[in-house]
Amino acid sequence: MVASIYSDNIKNALPLAYALEMFHNFTLLHDDIMDDADIRRSKPTVHSLYGQNTAILSGDLMMIKSFQYILNSKLTENNRIKILDLFTKTAIEVCEGQQYDMDFESEKYVNTDSYLKMIELKTAVLLASAFKIGAIAGGADENIAELWYSYGINVGMAFQVQDDYLDIFGDQELFGKLNGGDIIQKKKTYPFLIALEQVVNKEQLIIDYNSDFDNPQDKVSHFQKIYNDLEIPRLVQEKIQYYDKKAIENLDSISSNKNELQEIIDLHQKLMNRGF
Ligand code: IPE
Ligand code: MG
Ligand code: MG
Ligand code: MG
Repeated sequence: MVASIYSDNIKNALPLAYALEMFHNFTLLHDDIMDDADIRRSKPTVHSLYGQNTAILSGDLMMIKSFQYILNSKLTENNRIKILDLFTKTAIEVCEGQQYDMDFESEKYVNTDSYLKMIELKTAVLLASAFKIGAIAGGADENIAELWYSYGINVGMAFQVQDDYLDIFGDQELFGKLNGGDIIQKKKTYPFLIALEQVVNKEQLIIDYNSDFDNPQDKVSHFQKIYNDLEIPRLVQEKIQYYDKKAIENLDSISSNKNELQEIIDLHQKLMNRGF
Protein backbone atom coordinates (compact mmCIF):
# COMPACT_ATOMS: atom_id res chain seq x y z
CA MET A 1 0.00 0.00 0.00
CA VAL A 2 2.76 2.46 0.89
CA ALA A 3 4.77 1.57 -2.21
CA SER A 4 1.71 2.20 -4.38
CA ILE A 5 1.52 5.79 -3.09
CA TYR A 6 4.89 6.49 -4.71
CA SER A 7 4.93 4.14 -7.66
CA ASP A 8 2.50 2.73 -10.24
CA ASN A 9 4.50 -0.46 -10.50
CA ILE A 10 4.06 -2.25 -7.18
CA LYS A 11 5.00 -5.69 -8.52
CA ASN A 12 8.53 -5.31 -7.21
CA ALA A 13 7.20 -4.49 -3.75
CA LEU A 14 5.11 -7.66 -3.44
CA PRO A 15 7.94 -10.04 -2.44
CA LEU A 16 8.75 -7.57 0.35
CA ALA A 17 5.18 -7.80 1.58
CA TYR A 18 5.43 -11.61 1.46
CA ALA A 19 8.68 -11.42 3.45
CA LEU A 20 7.13 -9.24 6.15
CA GLU A 21 3.98 -11.35 6.41
CA MET A 22 5.98 -14.59 6.48
CA PHE A 23 8.31 -13.22 9.14
CA HIS A 24 5.40 -11.96 11.23
CA ASN A 25 3.69 -15.36 11.11
CA PHE A 26 6.94 -17.10 12.03
CA THR A 27 7.12 -14.97 15.19
CA LEU A 28 3.56 -15.93 16.04
CA LEU A 29 4.27 -19.68 15.71
CA HIS A 30 7.15 -19.37 18.15
CA ASP A 31 5.32 -16.83 20.35
CA ASP A 32 2.45 -19.27 20.84
CA ILE A 33 4.90 -21.86 22.12
CA MET A 34 6.51 -19.32 24.49
CA ASP A 35 3.09 -18.13 25.71
CA ASP A 36 1.54 -21.59 25.85
CA ALA A 37 -1.34 -20.34 23.67
CA ASP A 38 -3.73 -22.91 22.19
CA ILE A 39 -5.91 -20.67 20.02
CA ARG A 40 -5.06 -18.00 17.41
CA ARG A 41 -7.31 -16.53 14.74
CA SER A 42 -10.03 -18.72 16.27
CA LYS A 43 -8.13 -21.88 15.32
CA PRO A 44 -5.82 -24.27 17.17
CA THR A 45 -2.23 -23.02 17.12
CA VAL A 46 0.40 -24.95 15.16
CA HIS A 47 2.18 -26.33 18.23
CA SER A 48 -1.08 -27.51 19.78
CA LEU A 49 -2.06 -29.30 16.55
CA TYR A 50 1.27 -30.67 15.32
CA GLY A 51 3.52 -30.53 18.39
CA GLN A 52 6.23 -28.15 19.53
CA ASN A 53 9.01 -29.48 17.34
CA THR A 54 7.03 -29.03 14.15
CA ALA A 55 6.04 -25.51 15.18
CA ILE A 56 9.68 -24.62 15.89
CA LEU A 57 10.90 -26.02 12.60
CA SER A 58 8.03 -24.51 10.56
CA GLY A 59 8.79 -21.17 12.18
CA ASP A 60 12.49 -21.50 11.35
CA LEU A 61 11.64 -22.24 7.75
CA MET A 62 9.27 -19.29 7.51
CA MET A 63 11.97 -17.01 8.85
CA ILE A 64 14.47 -18.26 6.30
CA LYS A 65 11.91 -17.91 3.51
CA SER A 66 11.29 -14.30 4.48
CA PHE A 67 14.94 -13.52 3.72
CA GLN A 68 14.76 -15.52 0.52
CA TYR A 69 11.86 -13.36 -0.70
CA ILE A 70 13.96 -10.23 -0.25
CA LEU A 71 17.00 -11.85 -1.83
CA ASN A 72 14.99 -12.76 -4.93
CA SER A 73 13.13 -9.46 -5.22
CA LYS A 74 13.71 -7.27 -8.27
CA LEU A 75 15.04 -4.17 -6.59
CA THR A 76 18.01 -1.99 -7.38
CA GLU A 77 21.10 -3.35 -5.65
CA ASN A 78 21.18 -0.26 -3.46
CA ASN A 79 17.57 -0.67 -2.29
CA ARG A 80 17.93 -4.40 -1.69
CA ILE A 81 20.90 -3.82 0.61
CA LYS A 82 19.07 -0.99 2.37
CA ILE A 83 15.96 -3.13 2.90
CA LEU A 84 17.90 -6.23 3.92
CA ASP A 85 19.80 -4.12 6.44
CA LEU A 86 16.62 -2.71 7.97
CA PHE A 87 14.84 -6.08 7.92
CA THR A 88 17.77 -7.79 9.67
CA LYS A 89 18.03 -5.10 12.34
CA THR A 90 14.29 -5.33 12.91
CA ALA A 91 14.33 -9.12 13.20
CA ILE A 92 17.03 -8.90 15.88
CA GLU A 93 15.01 -6.30 17.78
CA VAL A 94 11.87 -8.46 17.72
CA CYS A 95 13.83 -11.31 19.32
CA GLU A 96 15.17 -8.91 21.96
CA GLY A 97 11.64 -7.71 22.72
CA GLN A 98 10.42 -11.28 23.06
CA GLN A 99 13.21 -12.03 25.54
CA TYR A 100 12.27 -8.98 27.64
CA ASP A 101 8.62 -10.07 27.54
CA MET A 102 9.59 -13.48 28.95
CA ASP A 103 12.13 -12.11 31.44
CA PHE A 104 9.41 -9.84 32.84
CA GLU A 105 7.26 -12.89 33.70
CA SER A 106 9.60 -13.58 36.59
CA GLU A 107 10.00 -9.94 37.68
CA LYS A 108 7.47 -8.87 40.33
CA TYR A 109 6.71 -5.73 38.34
CA VAL A 110 8.53 -3.50 35.84
CA ASN A 111 8.54 0.26 35.34
CA THR A 112 6.49 1.78 32.54
CA ASP A 113 9.57 2.78 30.52
CA SER A 114 10.84 -0.82 30.47
CA TYR A 115 7.41 -2.01 29.40
CA LEU A 116 7.20 0.57 26.61
CA LYS A 117 10.68 -0.35 25.37
CA MET A 118 9.72 -4.03 25.41
CA ILE A 119 6.56 -3.53 23.30
CA GLU A 120 8.37 -1.19 20.93
CA LEU A 121 10.84 -4.02 20.27
CA LYS A 122 8.50 -7.00 20.17
CA THR A 123 5.70 -5.34 18.18
CA ALA A 124 6.14 -1.77 16.94
CA VAL A 125 9.42 -2.06 15.03
CA LEU A 126 8.05 -4.66 12.62
CA LEU A 127 5.09 -2.50 11.67
CA ALA A 128 7.40 0.50 11.41
CA SER A 129 9.77 -1.37 9.13
CA ALA A 130 6.92 -2.61 6.99
CA PHE A 131 5.82 0.96 6.28
CA LYS A 132 9.37 2.17 5.73
CA ILE A 133 10.25 -0.74 3.43
CA GLY A 134 7.16 0.03 1.34
CA ALA A 135 8.24 3.66 1.10
CA ILE A 136 11.80 2.72 0.05
CA ALA A 137 10.53 0.21 -2.52
CA GLY A 138 8.15 2.80 -3.95
CA GLY A 139 10.97 5.32 -4.29
CA ALA A 140 9.97 7.82 -1.58
CA ASP A 141 12.58 10.28 -0.27
CA GLU A 142 14.66 9.22 2.72
CA ASN A 143 13.02 11.73 5.10
CA ILE A 144 9.54 10.58 4.05
CA ALA A 145 10.55 6.92 4.54
CA GLU A 146 11.69 7.87 8.05
CA LEU A 147 8.32 9.50 8.76
CA TRP A 148 6.63 6.24 7.76
CA TYR A 149 8.84 4.47 10.27
CA SER A 150 7.73 6.86 13.04
CA TYR A 151 4.13 6.39 12.01
CA GLY A 152 4.56 2.61 12.30
CA ILE A 153 6.12 2.91 15.76
CA ASN A 154 3.15 4.91 17.03
CA VAL A 155 0.57 2.63 15.43
CA GLY A 156 2.45 -0.36 16.78
CA MET A 157 2.55 1.02 20.31
CA ALA A 158 -1.20 1.70 20.21
CA PHE A 159 -1.74 -1.77 18.74
CA GLN A 160 0.18 -3.59 21.49
CA VAL A 161 -1.36 -1.62 24.38
CA GLN A 162 -4.71 -2.51 22.85
CA ASP A 163 -3.60 -6.12 22.43
CA ASP A 164 -2.88 -6.25 26.17
CA TYR A 165 -6.33 -4.84 26.87
CA LEU A 166 -8.08 -7.24 24.47
CA ASP A 167 -6.25 -10.18 26.02
CA ILE A 168 -8.33 -9.44 29.14
CA PHE A 169 -11.55 -7.94 27.83
CA GLY A 170 -11.72 -8.68 24.09
CA ASP A 171 -14.62 -10.47 22.43
CA GLN A 172 -13.02 -13.91 22.05
CA GLU A 173 -14.82 -14.61 18.76
CA LEU A 174 -13.63 -11.37 17.14
CA PHE A 175 -10.21 -11.34 18.79
CA GLY A 176 -9.62 -14.99 17.89
CA LYS A 177 -7.63 -15.67 21.07
CA LEU A 178 -8.63 -16.83 24.54
CA ASN A 179 -9.05 -14.22 27.30
CA GLY A 180 -6.65 -14.14 30.20
CA GLY A 181 -3.50 -15.77 28.80
CA ASP A 182 -1.37 -12.81 29.89
CA ILE A 183 -2.80 -12.92 33.43
CA ILE A 184 -2.16 -16.65 33.73
CA GLN A 185 1.40 -16.20 32.37
CA LYS A 186 2.13 -13.25 34.75
CA LYS A 187 2.88 -10.98 31.80
CA LYS A 188 3.75 -7.45 32.83
CA THR A 189 1.16 -5.80 30.63
CA TYR A 190 0.01 -2.19 30.55
CA PRO A 191 -3.26 -2.94 32.40
CA PHE A 192 -1.27 -4.55 35.22
CA LEU A 193 1.17 -1.64 35.45
CA ILE A 194 -1.52 1.02 35.71
CA ALA A 195 -3.57 -1.10 38.11
CA LEU A 196 -0.48 -1.12 40.30
CA GLU A 197 -0.35 2.70 40.14
CA GLN A 198 -4.02 2.99 41.12
CA VAL A 199 -4.48 0.32 43.76
CA VAL A 200 -4.12 1.00 47.50
CA ASN A 201 -2.73 -2.39 48.53
CA LYS A 202 0.08 -2.72 45.97
CA GLU A 203 1.85 -5.55 47.78
CA GLN A 204 -1.26 -7.77 47.61
CA LEU A 205 -1.79 -7.08 43.91
CA ILE A 206 1.83 -8.01 43.18
CA ILE A 207 1.58 -11.22 45.22
CA ASP A 208 -1.68 -12.32 43.59
CA TYR A 209 -0.56 -11.48 40.06
CA ASN A 210 2.66 -13.44 40.41
CA SER A 211 1.05 -16.52 41.88
CA ASP A 212 -0.67 -19.51 40.27
CA PHE A 213 -4.28 -19.99 41.33
CA ASP A 214 -5.56 -23.58 41.68
CA ASN A 215 -7.96 -22.79 38.88
CA PRO A 216 -6.34 -20.43 36.30
CA GLN A 217 -9.80 -19.18 35.23
CA ASP A 218 -10.38 -17.94 38.80
CA LYS A 219 -7.25 -15.81 38.48
CA VAL A 220 -8.56 -14.34 35.22
CA SER A 221 -11.98 -13.46 36.72
CA HIS A 222 -10.31 -12.08 39.85
CA PHE A 223 -8.21 -9.65 37.82
CA GLN A 224 -11.01 -8.77 35.39
CA LYS A 225 -13.00 -7.58 38.40
CA ILE A 226 -10.08 -5.66 39.95
CA TYR A 227 -9.33 -3.97 36.62
CA ASN A 228 -12.96 -2.96 36.18
CA ASP A 229 -13.14 -1.59 39.73
CA LEU A 230 -10.00 0.47 39.10
CA GLU A 231 -11.38 1.76 35.76
CA ILE A 232 -8.45 0.26 33.90
CA PRO A 233 -10.40 0.07 30.58
CA ARG A 234 -10.70 3.88 30.54
CA LEU A 235 -7.05 4.46 31.47
CA VAL A 236 -5.85 2.02 28.81
CA GLN A 237 -7.98 3.76 26.18
CA GLU A 238 -6.27 7.05 27.09
CA LYS A 239 -2.87 5.55 26.38
CA ILE A 240 -4.08 4.09 23.08
CA GLN A 241 -5.47 7.51 22.10
CA TYR A 242 -2.13 9.11 22.96
CA TYR A 243 -0.25 6.94 20.44
CA ASP A 244 -3.09 7.06 17.93
CA LYS A 245 -2.95 10.86 17.94
CA LYS A 246 0.82 10.84 17.41
CA ALA A 247 0.36 8.40 14.52
CA ILE A 248 -2.23 10.65 12.87
CA GLU A 249 0.18 13.60 13.24
CA ASN A 250 2.83 11.54 11.45
CA LEU A 251 0.38 10.87 8.62
CA ASP A 252 -0.39 14.58 8.37
CA SER A 253 3.29 15.36 7.95
CA ILE A 254 3.71 12.61 5.36
CA SER A 255 1.06 14.11 3.10
CA SER A 256 -1.74 16.65 3.27
CA ASN A 257 -3.53 14.77 0.50
CA LYS A 258 -6.12 12.58 2.25
CA ASN A 259 -7.02 10.74 -0.97
CA GLU A 260 -3.47 9.58 -1.39
CA LEU A 261 -3.49 8.07 2.11
CA GLN A 262 -7.03 6.68 2.07
CA GLU A 263 -6.05 2.99 1.98
CA ILE A 264 -3.68 3.51 4.89
CA ILE A 265 -6.28 5.44 6.86
CA ASP A 266 -8.76 2.59 6.33
CA LEU A 267 -6.17 0.05 7.50
CA HIS A 268 -5.40 2.26 10.49
CA GLN A 269 -9.08 2.31 11.49
CA LYS A 270 -9.30 -1.45 11.08
CA LEU A 271 -6.29 -2.04 13.31
CA MET A 272 -7.67 0.25 16.00
CA ASN A 273 -11.11 -1.33 15.97
CA ARG A 274 -10.18 -5.01 16.05
CA GLY A 275 -11.47 -7.36 18.72
CA PHE A 276 -14.30 -5.26 20.14
C1 IPE B 1 3.72 -11.08 20.48
O1 IPE B 1 3.12 -10.38 21.50
C2 IPE B 1 4.75 -10.30 19.71
C3 IPE B 1 5.46 -11.17 18.77
C4 IPE B 1 5.01 -12.28 18.29
C5 IPE B 1 6.78 -10.76 18.33
P1 IPE B 1 1.89 -11.15 22.19
O2 IPE B 1 2.36 -12.40 22.80
O3 IPE B 1 1.18 -10.17 23.07
O4 IPE B 1 1.01 -11.46 20.91
P2 IPE B 1 -0.33 -12.35 20.94
O5 IPE B 1 -1.24 -11.73 21.97
O6 IPE B 1 0.07 -13.74 21.28
O7 IPE B 1 -0.89 -12.21 19.55
MG1 MG C 1 1.43 -14.36 22.62
MG1 MG D 1 4.14 -13.16 23.61
MG1 MG E 1 -0.98 -10.35 23.42
